[in-house]
Amino acid sequence: MTECAIRTADLTRDFGSLRAVDALSLEVPAGAIFGFLGPNGSGKTTTIRLLLGLLEPTRGDATVLGLDARSEAAAIRERCGALLEHAGLYERMSAQDNLEFYARVWHLPPGERRARVRELLTGLGLWDRRHEIVGAWSRGMKQKLAVARTLLHRPALVFLDEPTAGLDPVAAAALRDDLTALARREGVTVFLTTHNLAEAEKLCDQVGVIRSGRLLAVGRPEDVRARARRDRMEVTGRGLDARIVDLVKAQPPVESATLADGRLELRVRDGEDTSPLVALLVREGVAIDEVRKGGADLEEAFMALVGTEP
Ligand SMILES: Nc1ncnc2c1ncn2[C@@H]1O[C@H](COP(=O)(O)OP(=O)(O)OP(=O)(O)O)[C@@H](O)[C@H]1O
Ligand SMILES: [Mg+2]
Repeated sequence: MTECAIRTADLTRDFGSLRAVDALSLEVPAGAIFGFLGPNGSGKTTTIRLLLGLLEPTRGDATVLGLDARSEAAAIRERCGALLEHAGLYERMSAQDNLEFYARVWHLPPGERRARVRELLTGLGLWDRRHEIVGAWSRGMKQKLAVARTLLHRPALVFLDEPTAGLDPVAAAALRDDLTALARREGVTVFLTTHNLAEAEKLCDQVGVIRSGRLLAVGRPEDVRARARRDRMEVTGRGLDARIVDLVKAQPPVESATLADGRLELRVRDGEDTSPLVALLVREGVAIDEVRKGGADLEEAFMALVGTEP
């Protein structure tokens, strides 16, 4: 096993004049659950398609399980599982028959096939309902089955494109728990995309934040959160107005300043001393109630990161 399940260098993909993935350099350690976070259209699905060799990069390289995504795409797809937009389930077949079918597609020997299907259905809490027709199932159950399908052939790496999209919080949590347990037990690396930041924070060892094809931050969720926290500052008090905003904006450490609901929200350059800003506000007659640094959770960190101009 390679120490890195995924490694990209300067990976770039254009669609006409649109740069969907922009010089992405990323390393995902083997065995990690990696969450790729970004708003709609930020390049998450395109990245997965590049990694699976379903799309040619315009520039740059991607190595998946030590295989080159340009020249060894077939081998990558053999060793990886993937859940993309379509769950790929047969609605008129039972859950068990669905998995049996795909196990045959993957050429699992009959004995192992049965054992593997049972193991996965049990692991995802679906074994008792294995004979039910999938078409009648809730979205959450279908999604669990779709995840089971990606794991059938014991891939070293699975790509899950928004696995919990459209699930209610309870179903999402159930899928998350089962997925984590299964992934840990089998040592599989998981590359998943999500819009749900609380989810990424609970589920992922590492997250990458992407916007307009560019990787803005990568690391443990708590580190990404801490990074954005350092950059953000919020001031409440009386006397905050447009003049103050303009004044503050002109200060060197300030990258942006906005007034929202009477609160002055600032982004400051990483590591800069902010006490002169507070002194300036006092000098200009602002009666400060509170100065708060940073956001409380990954959601705020994410908004702070993706909310900045490129
Ligand atoms: N085949 C294609 N042809 C042209 N443009 C494309 C194609 N695929 C993706 N794009 C564009 O590339 C950009 C990134 O799309 P992508 O699907 O990777 O985003 P995403 O982060 O997965 O978004 P979402 O969260 O909505 O799924 C978008 O602007 C999209 O319109
Ligand atoms: Mg997508």
